[in-house]
Amino acid sequence: MNLPKRVEIMESGPRDGIQNEKTFIPTEQKLQLIHALGETGIKRMEATSFVSPKHVPQMADADVVYRNIDQKPDLQYLVLIPNKRGFELAREAGAKNLALVAGASETFNMKNVRMSVEESLHQLSLVVEEAKSEDMFVRFSIATSFHCPYEGIVAEETTLNMVKTLETLEVDEIVLCDTIGRANPHQVYQLFSKTLDLGTKAKVTAHFHDTYGFSKANSLAALQAGITSFDTAIGGLGGCPFAPGAAGNDSTEDFVFMLNEMGIETGIDFEKLMDCVILVKEMTERRLTGHLQQVRGGSLKQRV
Ligand code: COA
Ligand code: ZN
Repeated sequence: MNLPKRVEIMESGPRDGIQNEKTFIPTEQKLQLIHALGETGIKRMEATSFVSPKHVPQMADADVVYRNIDQKPDLQYLVLIPNKRGFELAREAGAKNLALVAGASETFNMKNVRMSVEESLHQLSLVVEEAKSEDMFVRFSIATSFHCPYEGIVAEETTLNMVKTLETLEVDEIVLCDTIGRANPHQVYQLFSKTLDLGTKAKVTAHFHDTYGFSKANSLAALQAGITSFDTAIGGLGGCPFAPGAAGNDSTEDFVFMLNEMGIETGIDFEKLMDCVILVKEMTERRLTGHLQQVRGGSLKQRV
């Protein structure tokens, strides 16, 4: 099996994880989770999103959240940005690491950010230019890289063309997202292989949701294709308000456990991660879908 020695994980719980929670999670609790995740050894985290409070009320406190993070110097705190206004607000808050997003599918992009794909790419290309001139780190997520909840399968060529466009913008990282968790391992292997075959200079990252229970199989397929950077969310939380029916992200603790078992390093302390699962269990109303917390039942502290 073609496997790396080490995998890098970007924890998306505080953003993708909780953006879809119906009851507003108090800012203090969001910060508590961000700080607890920071203690696990995780080196990258999406802390919040600067999006419209009308469209995504859970993220209405992005500015306060970001400003009050007791930032660890060796941890990259990313913030999601859908448009120019989001960039301005993030910059005012002091953000240095941007996670821009646009969808490969027209209908999804229109529902998600109320712009055509072309408008998104145009507006965000100006953001990239400005951000790069200020030495910011820019990652760019291609939402619905595989499937769209409204249009069905997205042609490989459509996503690959978007990758090529992002390469010309010289973004630091490109993320292929299975936003609705509908991709299969064969599709994943093909698209990531073809993306790497383009000679992509940006770091290429995989982002899976577990709607059909394929997220681990998809992660393994991406690993086989040569991908070593992944987005996951603690507790398997997650889902996009504009992708109906989509389940949570691939769960961080399950993925770390699987990698540990396979002898692949992550630098993450598994027991501290399970402490964070207890925290998200308390702060959300959702039944968590991660397997490890089910294996441990009521006693998350018990050794597996
Ligand atoms: N953050 C906060 N407020 C924003 C904003 C942002 N990024 N972008 C626009 N606004 C404000 C405007 O200032 C304006 O405020 P006003 O009414 O007080 O003047 C208002 O929102 C409407 O602006 P408009 O440009 O017409 O935005 P819109 O209503 O068309 O919404 C987005 C566009 C992109 C802001 C919205 O669709 C959005 O937030 N999408 C993100 C969805 C998401 O987070 N999905 C999950 C992650 S992929
Ligand atoms: Zn997602």
